[in-house]
Amino acid sequence: MFLKLAYCYIGFSLLLLHIVASSTLEQRDVRIYSVDDNLGYGRRFDGIGGISGTATSKLLRNYPDQQRNEILDFLFKPNFGASIQILKVEVGADADTTVGTESSHMHYPWDENYNRGYEWWMMSEAKKRNPNIKLYGLPWGYPGWLRDAQGTPWGFPNRTATYMVKWIRGAKLHHNLDIDYIGLWNERPYSIDYIKIFRSMLDAAGFNNTMILGSDNHWDIAEDILKDPELAKAVSVIGAHFPGTFSTDSAVKTNKTLWASADYSTFNDEVGGGCWARILNQNYVNGLMTATISWNLIASYYFPLPFYEQGLMTAMEPWSGHYEVKSPIWVTAHTSQFTDIGWDYLHHDHGVGLLDNGGSYVALTSPDRKQLTIVIETMTHDHSICIRPGLPSYQVGAQSFSFQLNGSYANIKQFNVWHSKPGFYLKNSTFFVKEAPLQVVNGMVSLDVGVDEVITLTTVDTGVKGSYPESPISKSFPLPYTEDFEGYDINGDAYNLAQQTGAFEVLDHDGNKVLQQMVLSQPVINCGVDSLNTSLNLVGSYYWTDISISIDVLVSGVNTTDGVYVGARINLGACKAPEALGLYFYLYPKEGRFSVFEGFLHKSKLAGGKIGPVSQDTFTNMKLTVKNDLATGYLNNKTLFVVRFPDEVVNGFVGFGTRPYGLAKFDNLKIEAVPGGRLPGQPS
Ligand SMILES: *[C@@H]1O[C@H](CO)[C@@H](O)[C@H](O)[C@H]1NC(C)=O
Ligand SMILES: *[C@@H]1O[C@H](CO)[C@@H](O)[C@H](O)[C@H]1NC(C)=O
Ligand SMILES: *[C@@H]1O[C@H](CO)[C@@H](O)[C@H](O)[C@H]1NC(C)=O
Ligand SMILES: *[C@@H]1O[C@H](CO)[C@@H](O)[C@H](O)[C@H]1NC(C)=O
Ligand SMILES: *[C@@H]1O[C@H](CO)[C@@H](O)[C@H](O)[C@H]1NC(C)=O
Ligand SMILES: *[C@@H]1O[C@H](CO)[C@@H](O)[C@H](O)[C@H]1NC(C)=O
Ligand SMILES: *[C@@H]1O[C@H](CO)[C@@H](O)[C@H](O)[C@H]1NC(C)=O
Ligand SMILES: *[C@@H]1O[C@H](CO)[C@@H](O)[C@H](O)[C@H]1NC(C)=O
Repeated sequence: MFLKLAYCYIGFSLLLLHIVASSTLEQRDVRIYSVDDNLGYGRRFDGIGGISGTATSKLLRNYPDQQRNEILDFLFKPNFGASIQILKVEVGADADTTVGTESSHMHYPWDENYNRGYEWWMMSEAKKRNPNIKLYGLPWGYPGWLRDAQGTPWGFPNRTATYMVKWIRGAKLHHNLDIDYIGLWNERPYSIDYIKIFRSMLDAAGFNNTMILGSDNHWDIAEDILKDPELAKAVSVIGAHFPGTFSTDSAVKTNKTLWASADYSTFNDEVGGGCWARILNQNYVNGLMTATISWNLIASYYFPLPFYEQGLMTAMEPWSGHYEVKSPIWVTAHTSQFTDIGWDYLHHDHGVGLLDNGGSYVALTSPDRKQLTIVIETMTHDHSICIRPGLPSYQVGAQSFSFQLNGSYANIKQFNVWHSKPGFYLKNSTFFVKEAPLQVVNGMVSLDVGVDEVITLTTVDTGVKGSYPESPISKSFPLPYTEDFEGYDINGDAYNLAQQTGAFEVLDHDGNKVLQQMVLSQPVINCGVDSLNTSLNLVGSYYWTDISISIDVLVSGVNTTDGVYVGARINLGACKAPEALGLYFYLYPKEGRFSVFEGFLHKSKLAGGKIGPVSQDTFTNMKLTVKNDLATGYLNNKTLFVVRFPDEVVNGFVGFGTRPYGLAKFDNLKIEAVPGGRLPGQPS
């Protein structure tokens, strides 16, 4: 198959030269591509997916019911919007995994809980709308107790496999969710030993239908699979990330199902939509990948955390209800609304291939062969660049061509036509519009296709461009803002608080709900911020300048932290938090002292001193106010310090946390504008 593809490629470039050379002389013949199943079929189609993980869905849950249901419909509801076929979620790790931390179901070996975070909820909402959606779990990190001396989770494979089997069982027992696919460790080394043990433990636990996917990184696991029959048996799917539409010879040789198990990661403007259209087709045409999964599914995290707005759509304002359905939603619909998991691709050159004048086409057919869907894309280079890998230059031109229908498709009389043509900066885009049907004449269907178009020809009649009334207008984060945590479920997370490191959860404290930092030790890290022994929970707006944050803290009992802090003007989060500026007011209750630092990593110390004993029975109120270049700190309403700080500290979120890791309780968060201070800027 691969030799043939390579040949196809050479043929394609020769042909291009030929067209360029001859086009000025005469009008060329209309190119005919055959679409038939006389030779059988290509690979089985496994679906288009999206990732809810790495804290990218954080803000979604807090949307007003109406808008939240609308958004979930745009993502999951069949024949409505993206109609996603695979939902891939993070197995929470207590580690920052890209734009924040998702909580583990086992913070410690003595702990187990299946109500944390938002992925259980997300999977349930997806299943409610589409019971056939496939579920896929992947850890990006692991909690600290699973770390070995090398900092990996593989040193004690049985312990790690037990932890993962518990997650799969928890999904079934507590949420009635069947996990179809399970991964290893996102974009990190895999352990062959672990994979085999994990497979046998899954089988022993009755999860023989849960398939292992590896390695969510490059294609290199294919080499090991070819050498090791037992490994080959254990791994069901080879998934690579950002494959640039190509797999490898070895990957194809394994005969394994191949997926782009994370792809896209591109700002969701119309070029993002173009990237998505190109790779959805060409991942199969060039690389035989039968599923493509977008990181991420929905951009529901604060601007400007890393990779902001790199989802199929954007919903990052639960307080206003504002959300935006972006072009990748409709690009997805071009395939997902007219196929099902279990359909087959047609053979290369018999319904699948590159178009002579640039672009590609893929034909898919239902198992009974009665339905046929052909998706065509002619995205130009500059309008379909993805974040990675680099895209070599290529040309696309307007072209006329026909599909010759034979075999099971010889009697098709007409096709429904769905069309998208992004207008880019001209703003005259059309997306997912149903056009007049195309008639089949003498077994042929003919088209004139311009550049930057996506067209679906299909016998399926059920496509719908779903719509809801315009969402509410965008607003800045509301002030004053308070959280007493009483409205949340025990073990839940506070909706607008975006944990960046550490894991914070709602717990009962003498009949009163409080938020507790849970992480005790450094997790198996995804990025360096987790090694700093510091937890951080961010909230609010990046644009805030003059602002006041107040919170009650209690450090008492065992396994506690030494220091708790509140911060303001924190201008970076997630893996970039170590470089964050900002003001940080620390209280060390056991030692009875305080400190004030500039910078998340304590770039400079601005104040500090003894304050005497701090209560371990009752909460202590800490408050930090910043106005112009003055920071004022209060303890139980009494002014503790007033310091001037460097003018490089300009704007940012407020936050709180612990240093080092360790238990600490927080309650009664209050964020207010400062009297006479500058008002928070409205994001543009
Ligand atoms: C680890 O699990 C495998 C598979 O269940 C089992 O055969 C093996 O004995 C276990 N090893 C240890 C050290 O428990
Ligand atoms: C899992 O086990 C069941 C019952 O023994 C069997 O019907 C099914 O085919 C197995 N699935 C796989 C993927 O082996
Ligand atoms: C893949 O399938 C082909 C054709 O059925 C077979 O000849 C080959 O041995 C298979 N390769 C592996 C690694 O199973
Ligand atoms: C938008 O307008 C430009 C200039 O008139 C035209 O070339 C382009 O085809 C239009 N795009 C769409 C999607 O209608
Ligand atoms: C395909 O169908 C056309 C007419 O419908 C016919 O002329 C042609 O011979 C067929 N080709 C094959 C390979 O069956
Ligand atoms: C504190 O840590 C010890 C292990 O170091 C553990 O046994 C104990 O349950 C922990 N207690 C709490 C409240 O976390
Ligand atoms: C601080 O002041 C607020 C508002 O006046 C009051 O509600 C609170 O009880 C005071 N706290 C302490 C510890 O004095
Ligand atoms: C974190 O800080 C605690 C308390 O100071 C210390 O015991 C622990 O070794 C530190 N961990 C790391 C990874 O630095």
